[in-house]
Amino acid sequence: MSQSVRVEKLSFQYNNDVRWILKNISFQIGEGDVVGVVGPSGVGKSTLCYCLKGIIPHVLPGNVVGDVWVNDINTREVPAGKIAEHIGIVFQDPESQIVGLTVEEELAFGPENMEDPPEEIRRRMPELLNLVGLGGYLRQETYKLSGGQKQRLAIASALMMHPQILILDEPTSELDPIGREEVYRSIRDLKRDGVTIILVDHHIEEMLDVIDRLLVLEDGMLIEDTTPRQFFARDLTGKYEWLRRPQVVQVAAVLQAEGTMEGRMSPFEQEFIEEARELLGPDSESHSTAVGGKR
Ligand SMILES: Nc1ncnc2c1ncn2[C@@H]1O[C@H](COP(=O)(O)OP(=O)(O)OP(=O)(O)O)[C@@H](O)[C@H]1O
Ligand SMILES: [Mg+2]
Repeated sequence: MSQSVRVEKLSFQYNNDVRWILKNISFQIGEGDVVGVVGPSGVGKSTLCYCLKGIIPHVLPGNVVGDVWVNDINTREVPAGKIAEHIGIVFQDPESQIVGLTVEEELAFGPENMEDPPEEIRRRMPELLNLVGLGGYLRQETYKLSGGQKQRLAIASALMMHPQILILDEPTSELDPIGREEVYRSIRDLKRDGVTIILVDHHIEEMLDVIDRLLVLEDGMLIEDTTPRQFFARDLTGKYEWLRRPQVVQVAAVLQAEGTMEGRMSPFEQEFIEEARELLGPDSESHSTAVGGKR
């Protein structure tokens, strides 16, 4: 498999800070992979995103050791504008990243700066709006959009530069459950279209539905690079206290504590419900409805 992102022994220190925020981090992301990144607040998740996108060191300077390669380009060696063709980013706050007064202006802003041909820009706008579920919103004023719509516009905006890789740094943390579901629907569509995605989020349940791999950061180090299934198959008692367990993992813990079940169960809701039905027998309908009652 060809590699989209390769991070080699990356350490980083912001200017005027004695701390190393990232410490000797190495990983690779294949084309079309969707990788989740989790870690406690302040661990350096956004800093890692800035390194992947080339914001570090081109916009935010500091002391970089090691290398970041994006589609075989060393992000340190090319200007930030050039990196934008390969990797896009959507930040946490939908308000702060939208510059256009209308959806059309917003979408055209980046590619016009890059001097993309106008007809190509016009062709791409409705295509991407459809992809993020905003078909027909081209002439809409951006201030009239809901939080979820703004965040999906930010995704479309990032994709206007044709990147094959998209970083989503807590794209749903400011959103209500409906906005969150709208954004996750778009993420699932992007995944289906083969976009490589790096996703930072605290909402582990929603993440589990889309990610192929999970990277866990603690104390500036990459301490896990695994699949979500393997991650939750282990006994996590006393570990990663900052990580909210998926509801079904919490339910499994209760069932284990009361002796109803032994061994690990699936962290994926539907699989868990089936396993629980089997385990609890034919009278399990009421249990399993309670277990699966979230959605
Ligand atoms: N531009 C900056 N200049 C100096 N220090 C910074 C800068 N941005 C972040 N930091 C510091 O680097 C550390 C890591 O911050 P970062 O924002 O990467 O963490 P995070 O894991 O994304 O946190 P959160 O979960 O709160 O978003 C923090 O101590 C933060 O104060
Ligand atoms: Mg952050």
